[in-house]
Amino acid sequence: MKALAYEKAHPLDAFAISLDDIAEPEPRDGDLLVEVRAIGINPGETAIRQTRSADPGGRVVLGWEFAGVVVATGPATAGFAVGDRVMGTGDITRDGGWAERVAVDHRVVATIADELTFADAASLPIGVLTAWEALFRDQDTLPAGVENVLVIGGAGGVGSMATQLLKAWTSAFVISTASRPESREWATAMGADLVVDHHVDLATQLRGAGIDDVDLVFSTSDTGRRLASIVEVLRPFGHLAFIDSPGQLDVETFVGKSLSLHSEMVFSKIVAGRDASSQGRILARSADDVVAGRLRPIVTTTLRGLTPETMRTAHTLVETRRTIGKTVITL
Ligand SMILES: NC(=O)c1ccc[n+]([C@@H]2O[C@H](COP(=O)([O-])OP(=O)(O)OC[C@H]3O[C@@H](n4cnc5c(N)ncnc54)[C@H](OP(=O)(O)O)[C@@H]3O)[C@@H](O)[C@H]2O)c1
Repeated sequence: MKALAYEKAHPLDAFAISLDDIAEPEPRDGDLLVEVRAIGINPGETAIRQTRSADPGGRVVLGWEFAGVVVATGPATAGFAVGDRVMGTGDITRDGGWAERVAVDHRVVATIADELTFADAASLPIGVLTAWEALFRDQDTLPAGVENVLVIGGAGGVGSMATQLLKAWTSAFVISTASRPESREWATAMGADLVVDHHVDLATQLRGAGIDDVDLVFSTSDTGRRLASIVEVLRPFGHLAFIDSPGQLDVETFVGKSLSLHSEMVFSKIVAGRDASSQGRILARSADDVVAGRLRPIVTTTLRGLTPETMRTAHTLVETRRTIGKTVITL
């Protein structure tokens, strides 16, 4: 089958992903074989392209956000049938879905309704799961007493879904950050009650809006460099949930306010093989929410065709770190 693959880790200006003929995936008992129809592109994948090389003689196939059609079901995949329209993620330790077909653990897949396009569906899984787990942990609800949330990076792929999930499923007041007119407009469209600028002092802007402190900060970018500002705006016993790689965090500063720190890695369950089916349930619920109008897909750029050119364009966009919503490639 055809797949977009590469051999050696490389930077964008030496882009080396090519369309190759590779062996068909070999599904495990718990896998679905899915014909891929659309893929979402994430900063994490462009980061892995820069750091992960294939074993000698091998190829790396990235891509852990897709929508498509089930073409085969393993013996341990109850609840799915050939022909089902689905969306899902995958396992970063296995080949991904930048290919005509992907073998994927059924526990991180959900069926989607006919009215949801493949492109729209492919914009959801990573944002929904990352935001859900960072905000609601394994409790399916915000920590007790959280009534307002500051979403840093509110126009990005994950921030967009965090804002939407908070407005759909909680009564929290949501403050999002965005630094440009178009990203401010998008953050507002995602449901933010207030938008502030992440390049301007946060505490000053919040005080200007009559907000003394916040209960939970959901941070998608620059968490390490912005830590002092985050600690400054959090109330005692507040929470910081972060999803980026912040480097060394000085948690000494947390002690004075008895703050809690929540990390999140969307693949931690599937890699550990524990409770992965909770992700399938969250995806199924979000697919229902889209059909019911409680959530909206976040595609802003659609590129057509599984080609090195579309993939290079997608990586170029994502690496600007100034995209709004999600870039999707349709097959
Ligand atoms: N832990 C996990 O499992 C997980 C899962 C998914 C993603 N991630 C990571 O989470 C981060 C966000 O992912 P994403 O898909 O939402 O990214 P994204 O879509 O590329 O985010 C783009 C947005 O980030 C905002 N931004 C840029 N620089 C910023 C800064 N210094 N401070 C605050 N916001 C800034 C931009 O807003 P303006 O244009 O308005 O400035 C832009 O709208 C990435 O580092 C990604 O690798 C982690």
